[in-house]
Amino acid sequence: MDLVTLKNWSTEDVTEVVEGSIAIKNNPEQYAEATSQRSLAMLFQKTSTRTRCAGEVGMTQLGGHAVFLDWRTTNFALADLRDEIRVLSAYSDVILARFLKHADVVKAAESATVPLINGCCDRYHPTQALGDLMTIQEKLGRIEGVKLTYVGVHNNVCNSLIIAGMKTGMEVTVVAPETNPAAVDEELYETARKAGTYKTSDQIHEAIESSDVVYTDTWVDMEFFTDPAFKDEKERRIKTLSPYQLNAELLAGQDVLVMHCLPAHRGYEISGEIVEDPRSIMFDQSENRLHSMKGAILKLLGAL
Ligand code: CP
Ligand code: NVA
Repeated sequence: MDLVTLKNWSTEDVTEVVEGSIAIKNNPEQYAEATSQRSLAMLFQKTSTRTRCAGEVGMTQLGGHAVFLDWRTTNFALADLRDEIRVLSAYSDVILARFLKHADVVKAAESATVPLINGCCDRYHPTQALGDLMTIQEKLGRIEGVKLTYVGVHNNVCNSLIIAGMKTGMEVTVVAPETNPAAVDEELYETARKAGTYKTSDQIHEAIESSDVVYTDTWVDMEFFTDPAFKDEKERRIKTLSPYQLNAELLAGQDVLVMHCLPAHRGYEISGEIVEDPRSIMFDQSENRLHSMKGAILKLLGAL
């Protein structure tokens, strides 16, 4: 079993990790030896705060060990990805990989002889979605039937929320005037539409009005954020997307929870005021990345 997209997970698998992660959070001492003598290899091509710390700290708290590998200081850049992943498999029990391209995550998962976790690529962010489901379960006491509206740029995080919705019966509405080209997955959208858990809307007020949760993410993914070649596109997006900023005016009087995977760009996709608003649950959400990463690792090791 791997965690590349979450598409091949059953509803029971997802529920087990959500419930298991809540149990781990509530009784961490019971899991203090759960990965004793086991190692997690963490291979990152992109920057990270939450995913990296969730993996490293999570493994330590489970009684195991994590080794962090920055792609640039390994021999991955010089060699065939498949060869190096086979080598890494011999040293570790699980691999957590944050790669630029989804195709490389797939290639790595095929070559790995241990379970591989996708730590966020250009198409999907499955560990984020698991943490988000856990947070929604904690805050609302249910996931099935919860109405979540995603606002902003349709991206990797949005795709994984759509997959999570299909698995759990959470209804995801996407209000996104822009889509990251690398994230497009028409087959997913068709399947999710047919399942009745996904739709798009251009009516932002109406969508928010009928939501339990409003979710946003960056308008520019991390690998492009400071890239000079993306400067004009970034400026264009800021202009196009400014009416979609989650702010006090847009959310006035709305009884919703506000989520963001973080890092947030205050003043762009979300105002600082809304980050600090009592309706914001984004710091619980980010804490839950730790507990849910532990849940996912144990699930893949058959130890949950
Ligand atoms: N939300 C998330 O994945 O954060 P990082 O990029 O900091 O890991
Ligand atoms: N969608 C953003 C945030 C992921 C945590 C990105 O890929 O940079």
